[in-house]
Amino acid sequence: MEETYPVSGGPAKGNDIPPVSYLKWYIPRLKEMREHNLSFSGLQFPWELGSFDDVWKDHRGPGVEDRAMVSEMYGIPVENIHLTHGATQALGIAIASASRGGKVAVEMPSYGPQSQTARILGLETVTVRRIPTRKEWIIDREKWSEVLSEVDLLMICPQLNPVGWTYTEEDREWLVGFCKENDVRIISDEVYSGADRNWKPFFAEGDNCISISSLTKVHGLGQIRYGWMIASEEIIANAENTFHNMAGIMATPVIRVAERIKDRLHEPVDLIEYYREKNLPLLEQALERLGIEWTPPPYGVFGAFRIPGVDTMQMIDTIGKEHGLLAVPGCMFDSGLDEWLRVGWSIDPDSFSKAVKVLESVIITAMDIT
Ligand SMILES: Cc1ncc(COP(=O)(O)O)c(C=O)c1O
Repeated sequence: MEETYPVSGGPAKGNDIPPVSYLKWYIPRLKEMREHNLSFSGLQFPWELGSFDDVWKDHRGPGVEDRAMVSEMYGIPVENIHLTHGATQALGIAIASASRGGKVAVEMPSYGPQSQTARILGLETVTVRRIPTRKEWIIDREKWSEVLSEVDLLMICPQLNPVGWTYTEEDREWLVGFCKENDVRIISDEVYSGADRNWKPFFAEGDNCISISSLTKVHGLGQIRYGWMIASEEIIANAENTFHNMAGIMATPVIRVAERIKDRLHEPVDLIEYYREKNLPLLEQALERLGIEWTPPPYGVFGAFRIPGVDTMQMIDTIGKEHGLLAVPGCMFDSGLDEWLRVGWSIDPDSFSKAVKVLESVIITAMDIT
């Protein structure tokens, strides 16, 4: 069977471009509109934004600064920001503008574009992995030092998808220090980090660090494709050139819709905390009854656990489908995660409680527990 997880390797063009198997698998299943949906990695926020007159009409004019919203969010000058259509596009723009042509280390498990885009841009990638523990997944410093010594760029996603845990403080400090000493630039995909009110973005660690994010996950607005990257002025100048070449200019409707929510950015973060308080205990109790060990990550709306002896992709595509359940198998993110399942809790408590009951009975059947 073809791999379902992102793959590293040399530059890839045409037929060699690796698929994002996660999206190929997920989008058709999402369209089935299964009744019990625990697959979301982002918040389902009930935005009601009303209608927009002439939403397509050019928003540009004297004194209009597209980057003002992100500048206020982070308290940084606009010169350190470049807007993009979603974080996915920002990944490519950031790689092109920060690379100096060397190999790229990519952290696994990962969302495909985070670890594969460098290959499409003509660069070779090598893998580094975080190792599972009962809480934070940790850096194997010996292996990472070996790999980081032969690259000039590193792609990371601090709130690791699919498990939702970030680095231990010691690992983060070690990583930043090692990369500075060895002249490695870091591109940090922080689409999930806004759920942590105390999050310190990687760009604040130094000029070799770039942060990427978007309104997709924490703010539940993936539909409008509003993303950004934050970096030194030098790298942002490269990003502008890259963006002009590869994307042109930002779409006006995207900016107009974002403008309408700019004073409400705190509401989704509050809702995430409410969902955690209401929903998480139900999931923890169900997993405890099943004898599955799990500690939820301290922030965000998803986590992942191992169901011993169960191929979770098969489980979701057979018994799961029969029961109208959707959750994401770990095999979409890395090899060796076939028994892992990612579950999200970003839906209303009533729907969540019904879905968790169904999840429990699906797992019981899959584990053949009587
Ligand atoms: C780590 C990561 N980055 C980015 C994205 C997508 O972000 P956007 O919709 O802003 O392109 C995802 C989506 O699953 C993701 O997991």
